Amino acid sequence: MSLVRLNIESFRNIQLAQLSPGAGINLIYGQNGSGKTSILEAIYFLGMGRSFRSHLSQRVINNEHEQLTLFANLALPRGESKIGLRRYRSGETEVKIDGEKVKRLSTLAETLPIQVITPESFSLLFEGPKSRRQFIDWGAFHSDPQFYVAWMNVRRVLKQRNQLLKNNTPYSHIQYWDREFVRYSEQVTEIRNRYVDSLNELLKGIIGEFLPRVDVKVSFTRGWDSKTEFAQLLESQYPRDLATGHTVSGPHKADLRLRVGSLPVQDALSRGQLKLLVCALRIAQGKLLKQQIDKNSIYLVDDLPSELDAQHRQLLLKQLAETGAQVFVTAIEPAAIVDSLHTPPDRMFQVEQGRVTVIE
Ligand SMILES: Nc1ncnc2c1ncn2[C@@H]1O[C@H](COP(=O)(O)OP(=O)(O)OP(=O)(O)O)[C@@H](O)[C@H]1O
Ligand SMILES: [Mg+2]
Repeated sequence: MSLVRLNIESFRNIQLAQLSPGAGINLIYGQNGSGKTSILEAIYFLGMGRSFRSHLSQRVINNEHEQLTLFANLALPRGESKIGLRRYRSGETEVKIDGEKVKRLSTLAETLPIQVITPESFSLLFEGPKSRRQFIDWGAFHSDPQFYVAWMNVRRVLKQRNQLLKNNTPYSHIQYWDREFVRYSEQVTEIRNRYVDSLNELLKGIIGEFLPRVDVKVSFTRGWDSKTEFAQLLESQYPRDLATGHTVSGPHKADLRLRVGSLPVQDALSRGQLKLLVCALRIAQGKLLKQQIDKNSIYLVDDLPSELDAQHRQLLLKQLAETGAQVFVTAIEPAAIVDSLHTPPDRMFQVEQGRVTVIE
């Protein structure tokens, strides 16, 4: 799957851009502030209905306009598909796939699986578990059609349960909700667990190339002590949950643990190595998706050369090319990418003050 045409209108500093990307590696280059990241952000926005840079989606709308419009033609195995998204300053979003209005943003995500690697992607390894859960759930969502509904149910029941806790509800009442909570939690956990197992298989090979001699271990933690039955645990933790007003254990606390020997990766690896580890995780995800449901992801790699030496730039580009996926990489100087590729990029775009030109 790839974007064969992309129109961006009133997005950040881009007034209007029309691109015909190639199916392989697309290089986007230009000076600081020219609009490179904005192009990647626009593609992400089209796939996810939100930004990877800001929680405030209104901020991406060009300052001088009331709405942004994104449009793409996708080449899919079953033919071409058109997707369009319009976002208003009021917060309203309209999405159309092949002319039909779409209500759920998850339909977009299903159509357009996107992997982002930015200089800030380290946060996947450093920050709280939320971003790592999102990482697992991206894969769980795409690999198992049951996941989305099960996870929505967990969230719904959890919200209800927490409300009851805040209202000092006796356990006998909460117990009814716990039966549902346990059922959906176990469903979600099983899918996540299975997903991380499959991912680990692929990851070993990729980490072996990127970080030979470093023994990285990735393990999944479900969010509660698996030695105790979950229903029993919820009951025994009721006094604590009541005191804090929320559910202390459960799939909303799941995490991915990444270690080198006995150390967390952030204490054992350099910044460049951490970047490579994040790249390995993302590439493994894309490869697994291809294996599992024969769907290619689109890779967005912002500022690819930063923090990588020439050899690792080459290695990363080689791995990206090998996924067979469409890749968008940005750099300030085109040579930093071109010199690291064996063949020229599929297409090159230069960005100057929000204007995009294709370089022949
Ligand atoms: N809502 C907006 N309306 C207009 N311009 C905006 C808006 N939001 C951001 N900008 C501007 O868009 C420009 C492009 O930013 P972008 O981050 O895409 O640049 P870049 O090419 O990735 O730069 P760098 O090499 O520094 O990463 C910036 O100068 C920024 O001030
Ligand atoms: Mg940038």
